[in-house]
Amino acid sequence: MVTGAAGFIGSYMAERLQKEGHYVIGIDNFSDYYDVSLKKRNAEVLAEKGIQILKMDFREISGYENLPLDLILSFILPPSRAFLPPALLRNARQIILSLLKIC
Ligand SMILES: NC(=O)c1ccc[n+]([C@@H]2O[C@H](COP(=O)([O-])OP(=O)(O)OC[C@H]3O[C@@H](n4cnc5c(N)ncnc54)[C@H](O)[C@@H]3O)[C@@H](O)[C@H]2O)c1
Repeated sequence: MVTGAAGFIGSYMAERLQKEGHYVIGIDNFSDYYDVSLKKRNAEVLAEKGIQILKMDFREISGYENLPLDLILSFILPPSRAFLPPALLRNARQIILSLLKIC
């Protein structure tokens, strides 16, 4: 599973993992942090290679607890800084809780 699969690093990782023979589940909420058309383009390129991206907010993930996942690569955390503002800290905490939930 690759979270942030429509983003810059996540889309490359999803493609690379598939090339290495893994079955990849991509997750992305297509946030408008920057131009969404770039993420849609990434998703189209991945779809052409047979990788589907589920459009969802990873913080609200449910029903994936029993999937036999070998690996979860998460590329959705905000960049680390010495002090995260409260909203970003809450966001990061929710992402980590979701990761723990499905591990
Ligand atoms: N790009 C860099 O140079 C760089 C350098 C160091 C670290 N990083 C880290 O790598 C990670 C990925 O960076 P990037 O440049 O690919 O960023 P990006 O913004 O291109 O990709 C992140 C993707 O995550 C998605 N996303 C965000 N919140 C989500 C949520 N709650 N649920 C589902 N999807 C969500 C966004 O829609 C986006 O497509 C980040 O954690 C970033 O801090 C990036």
